Amino acid sequence: MTFSHDLLAGKTALVTGGGTGICRGIALALAAHGCDVAITSRKVEHLEPTAREIESLGRRSMAMAADVRDASAIEEVVARTAEKFGRLDVLVNGAAGNFLCLAEDLSPNAFGTVVDIDLKGSFHAAKAALPHLKKSRGVVLNISATLQYLGTPTQVHASAAKAGIDALTRGLAVEWGAYGIRVNGIAPGPIAETEGVRRLLVGKSRQRVEQKTPLGRLGAIDDVSNAALFLCSSAASHITGVTLVVDGGLWLASSWMAEASAAAEESLRASDRPPPKSKAPL
Ligand code: COA
Repeated sequence: MTFSHDLLAGKTALVTGGGTGICRGIALALAAHGCDVAITSRKVEHLEPTAREIESLGRRSMAMAADVRDASAIEEVVARTAEKFGRLDVLVNGAAGNFLCLAEDLSPNAFGTVVDIDLKGSFHAAKAALPHLKKSRGVVLNISATLQYLGTPTQVHASAAKAGIDALTRGLAVEWGAYGIRVNGIAPGPIAETEGVRRLLVGKSRQRVEQKTPLGRLGAIDDVSNAALFLCSSAASHITGVTLVVDGGLWLASSWMAEASAAAEESLRASDRPPPKSKAPL
């Protein structure tokens, strides 16, 4: 364990999309560090096994099905969470929907569906949690992505939604700072053992991504959970409005210019150039 086991002792959290993937990892990490954790997503069968795992860590849990697109349903989940645990300190907005599709083939409803789940769903949950977070001087953690930093084909809908989430993070951080609420984000790159990577990195593309990543490997769910623990803890008490990229440096190395310069870097490394001179003294 990287952090002290009582990092979040006495706190409570609600994690949307917390039954599976990255957000299941975050929910379990919060629980392993002292937090009671409620989880929600559309399908209760995705939630119950994770809720049992949270309880096996000695924490209270609640699994409640709801669609984040339905503002009143998510309000009900927030209310039930606060009622069961007596307070709400942390909201993790992780519920997301995605598929690969060229923009020219996207129907208006397809584009809107992803924006509704990712962006509007995050807003609905944050707004519903606000009265409770005001009382606890709590934390919102929004999960976005790095897709939107460049131009990712087949992902225009998700990129637009995730860019909106990053804007939500910054705007709410400024508005809700006055209540002592911190609002931050995490932008994971490709994370091994997730549905996203299983569907997106097919064939040789996984190996190519590993080679291109400056730190030389795909992310692990624990990489994201550790960032979440930090941002949700008092160790980050003066940090708000940031989106922390957890991608091993991949997106920075992914531009056309970076690719073109990689060839120059390779030839410089291969050449017999002299070692770099140390700076001359002033
Ligand atoms: N390509 C193009 N359009 C697609 C699509 C695809 N692969 N999948 C869904 N759509 C379109 C649908 O055709 C529909 O548009 P239309 O009404 O104009 O035909 C619209 O998106 C909504 O789809 P629907 O299946 O009715 O919505 P839903 O609310 O049941 O589910 C998703 C939406 C995004 C959750 C669903 O596509 C899905 O289950 N994705 C895989 C699971 C997932 O996203 N996991 C998270 C990974 S990050």
